[in-house]
Amino acid sequence: MPSRRELLRGVAIGVAVTTALGAGALAWSSTLLGEYSVMAMGEGHSGDGYAGHDGHAEHGTSGADPSAASGSTGAVNVNEVDVTSLTADPERPADVRVELVARQDTVDVPGGRAIEGYTVNGTSPGPELRARQGDLVEVTFVNESVTDGATLHWHGIDVPNAADGVAGITQDAVPVGGRHVYRFEATDAGTYWYHSHQVSHEQVEGGLLGAIVIEPASPTDAAADLEATALLHVYGGQHTLNGRVSDEHVDAAPGATVRVRVINTDQGTAAVWSAAPFRVLATDGHDVNEPTDVDGQRLLIPAGGRADVAVQAPPEGDAVRLHVGGARSILIGDPEASAPPTPQPAETLDLLAYGTPTPLSFDPASADRSFDYVIARRFGLIDGRPGNFWTINGRMFPDVPMFHVREGDVVVMRIVNDSGDVHPMHLHGHHVVVLSRDGDAASGSPWWVDSLDLHPGESYEIAFVADNPGIWSDHCHTLAHAVDGLVAHLMYEGVSTPFTINGAAGNRPE
Ligand code: C2O
Ligand code: CU
Repeated sequence: MPSRRELLRGVAIGVAVTTALGAGALAWSSTLLGEYSVMAMGEGHSGDGYAGHDGHAEHGTSGADPSAASGSTGAVNVNEVDVTSLTADPERPADVRVELVARQDTVDVPGGRAIEGYTVNGTSPGPELRARQGDLVEVTFVNESVTDGATLHWHGIDVPNAADGVAGITQDAVPVGGRHVYRFEATDAGTYWYHSHQVSHEQVEGGLLGAIVIEPASPTDAAADLEATALLHVYGGQHTLNGRVSDEHVDAAPGATVRVRVINTDQGTAAVWSAAPFRVLATDGHDVNEPTDVDGQRLLIPAGGRADVAVQAPPEGDAVRLHVGGARSILIGDPEASAPPTPQPAETLDLLAYGTPTPLSFDPASADRSFDYVIARRFGLIDGRPGNFWTINGRMFPDVPMFHVREGDVVVMRIVNDSGDVHPMHLHGHHVVVLSRDGDAASGSPWWVDSLDLHPGESYEIAFVADNPGIWSDHCHTLAHAVDGLVAHLMYEGVSTPFTINGAAGNRPE
């Protein structure tokens, strides 16, 4: 029997031939249509994608006018902007120039067994890229041997849309022998990562990824004396830290503070904890305002998410063990010393109440748009075959909502998880701030994320400013869920894409 993803791949998008049978019921064409454009997704019922009347009333907003968006295939817009024109200043010379070469290859996993996967410049993870805030970064991506084609997506960096690296939306997958140049300004300092966004569920799990760190423009903030990257990835069941099945030591003088940049490139949540207190300096590349000591609690990092954690080195002859991701640790302090493992605390640090509040640069209370993103699952038919499929606002992929915005809109989104599974939700091109969880308002530092875990039954209200025109994926970063349809898009008015999914270029973003 074909897998779910094969079914989805083969299913007719059939927006034009799909018939809504009423609330939640949908009949699918059994035609194997193949090629489709994201521009057609959600057509004919895009009003359903809005929060609905309750949502508007609840938020006291007025601008979420479904009629402004309904049926927006792009054709109605006068000032059509092609995604490929949404670039960094083409005249500006690059400050950082890198070439990254992807190969479909045997991945050496030091300390473990090699797996068949993908490398970048010969290793996985690929090289850690470094830029300074404000730099213009230019990456030439070369696909040497990835047979399905590949791209690079800059997870968490608010790049211009043309550089977002989503096959079938912002570019064609780069075929074997091809190359693609990504250019973006590194506007926000922080910890990020890059990965392929073509057949992501295979290529990311197989290691087509690496870290990218954007250092602050002025190194004034003396938050740390040293830093270390802790990129977590599971290669064929082997839990690695920076690509190795082993723990790492950071040689730090007594009292020195080490900033550990934890990057969760896996398919599920990663826990971080220590017997010694630590501080969470940043989440998803955004600083926490006035972080305090975390003691006896674990920090959870969603799939795709990052956290910068500060640990202080202990007195002479001693080391502190920071557990990262359950299976690996970083030992900080005297390189000769060790520290025993500590059991994972049951209590989780609540980032909703961590740090100190500080005003936002925009007012979510006067949102122009408010959307619902309700995740559930139900039995249904896709391509004539039954399955327990993800739904968004009651609809199955590809008939999921298209969230239409205008540049400058303040957007509030209510994400609800009625699906019985954890979903790390990731919006491209924007950072979102958490307003509330299950009705409890945020009471700590503004909690900025690009990857947010929703546990079963949870609902979050988030807000962001639509300040980066384009067509942006908004999906679950448990990539097997994304390939099974947990993907919607944010679409700016007047923006269109010439790329298609499937078709001659073989674009399969998920
Ligand atoms: Cu980390 Cu749509 O991706
Ligand atoms: Cu999910």
